[in-house]
Amino acid sequence: MIRVDGFAPSSRLSSVERTQPGGPHAAARTAVIWEVLRREVARGAGLRVVDVGGGTGGFAVPLARAGHEVTVVDPSPDALAALVRRAEEAGVAERIRAVQGDADDLAELLPSGRIPSDVDLILCHSVLEVVDSPTAVASALAALLRTGAAASVLVASRAGAALTRAMAGQLDLALAVLTDPDGRWGSRDTVRRRFDIDGATRLLAQAGLTVEEIHGVRVVADIIPATVAERDHELLAAFEGTVAGQSPFRDVAAQLHLLARKP
Ligand SMILES: C[S@@+](CC[C@H](N)C(=O)[O-])C[C@H]1O[C@@H](n2cnc3c(N)ncnc32)[C@H](O)[C@@H]1O
Repeated sequence: MIRVDGFAPSSRLSSVERTQPGGPHAAARTAVIWEVLRREVARGAGLRVVDVGGGTGGFAVPLARAGHEVTVVDPSPDALAALVRRAEEAGVAERIRAVQGDADDLAELLPSGRIPSDVDLILCHSVLEVVDSPTAVASALAALLRTGAAASVLVASRAGAALTRAMAGQLDLALAVLTDPDGRWGSRDTVRRRFDIDGATRLLAQAGLTVEEIHGVRVVADIIPATVAERDHELLAAFEGTVAGQSPFRDVAAQLHLLARKP
């Protein structure tokens, strides 16, 4: 069952969020995701976490600081080098493993032992929109999880992209996003696909996961003037947290965050 309400936003940022790279303004943009993750990791200590496409460790490092064992899988050597540096600076290098690899190859990586099996939590943020096969990747995510464990999946939203383009005065691109089968605005669009709520939910359900929660991330963060977002970052976090689970706000956010569990 999809839960769209019952989201209890914190009006203030936690110390973890305030210290995110990019400062409080950037933290306000991810506060909705952290709210969900905080509840999920409160289920246990020393969880085995895999962050697919985890990049420089924006999520991995705070999770390791909270005592969890995090494996980051990412194809970019530069991102992994930055991750290792950040992990060392944060004093959590021993709890972070950096694995160079592609989400499309997850199924082949697993038998190598480089990534753990029976994982307690998987993060797959901003990756399904760029992989070769979202269906295969979703199945591989499900295969990694132990029964009862959850995947935190963040995808680009078609509706959000259309709104942002329209508000920037690029109405032709906004219309293209709405009519293109993959939600792209043209051949120079670096995003391979964008998702609707139904499509993202179906993708995870077909992989055998039960979508429990869907929130909109960055409902207004990219639309309001940057000076306002900077000045009123606490208010922005409060606003984003309040509307994240509410239609119609959730539906036009830049990204959709889904929490899906392996039954
Ligand atoms: C926008 S960043 C997001 C980083 C992180 N997940 C976050 O939310 O902060 C996208 C990341 O996905 C990685 N990536 C790109 N293609 C990928 C693929 N095929 N499989 C796994 N990761 C990929 C990039 O190297 C980059 O680190």
